[in-house]
Amino acid sequence: MSLLDDVANLRREAVEKIKGADSADTLGRIKVRYLGRKGLLTAILRGLKDLPDDQRKAVGARANQIRAELEQQIAEAVTGLSTEKSASAFDPTLPGTAQQIGAMHIVSQVMNEICQTFYGMGFEIARGPDVETDYYNFESLNFPPDHPARDMQDTFFVEGGRLLRTHTTPVQTRELERRNPPIKIIAPGKTFRNEEISTRAHVAFHQVDGFLVDEGVTMSDLKGTLVAFCRAFFGEDTKLKFRPSFFPFTEPSAEVDITCFLCKGKGCQLCKFSGWLEILGCGMIHPNVLTTGGYDPEKYTGWAFGMGVERVAMLKYKINDIRLFFNNNIRFLRQFV
Ligand code: DAH
Repeated sequence: MSLLDDVANLRREAVEKIKGADSADTLGRIKVRYLGRKGLLTAILRGLKDLPDDQRKAVGARANQIRAELEQQIAEAVTGLSTEKSASAFDPTLPGTAQQIGAMHIVSQVMNEICQTFYGMGFEIARGPDVETDYYNFESLNFPPDHPARDMQDTFFVEGGRLLRTHTTPVQTRELERRNPPIKIIAPGKTFRNEEISTRAHVAFHQVDGFLVDEGVTMSDLKGTLVAFCRAFFGEDTKLKFRPSFFPFTEPSAEVDITCFLCKGKGCQLCKFSGWLEILGCGMIHPNVLTTGGYDPEKYTGWAFGMGVERVAMLKYKINDIRLFFNNNIRFLRQFV
């Protein structure tokens, strides 16, 4: 066995002892045993002068290397022991680590509140896909082939001739196809339009559609339901105004304004001094839509409405920029926790 082997064995032994040491005292003793003035490695270094030239160089270099290595390992083990100790010591007087918990996004909250109100009136919740076919989004809803909404300017088309639904109204056809009257559905979800993003418009937003189909359903049912909803959602003293309007899938069609809940109809910034706020579109389901869905419009009638969730939320919480819903600015979102 050469001296180099002795040095290697000494090293192995020391490293093992350092690993097994469980106190600073033990580590101190290990240091003395190997690296101290009368230590084992020190002895080898002392004996170097008696060695032949060729061995002295090699053994000396190696022994010095090991000396540095062991010194470092011992120092690291000492600090390791002290941090372990303080980490495991539980101090009940220290303040705890506060956990930040998330909250439901304001858009989801408003959408849920709308759905809950209708759920309470016996409506079922249904959902459709975000990526729709032209058939469900337009054709089945009585959009003529040359309707401007079918233009690339207004609609996002995806591969395979599909598109991102521009409203939640296609859920109507999907549910008409798979159900039997009486049908009472509320359909919340994401909608997309190829619009210039501004304070009032975004490319992705949310809508809720509602509809009812049965025998003998009339426009007064629609009015009664919407009055009940608006009073529950905006306040008991809310009044509604039905203005004639046009949608391809309803006839007759109307837009509904409610009395401005901020100024109670007197006129203010929010209602642009008109006293009224436009909140939704609605109407009696067009006979063509019923026929396409597989219903005899002589026997069955129905009504439908659709509203923008962000729009309603903006009115209710006096938010002046639709982009705030999508920026994920925590200071904005926290207001609605
Ligand atoms: N889909 C219409 C829109 O996006 C809103 C709408 C109006 C939905 C009348 C309806 C309705 O179901 O009957 O502007």
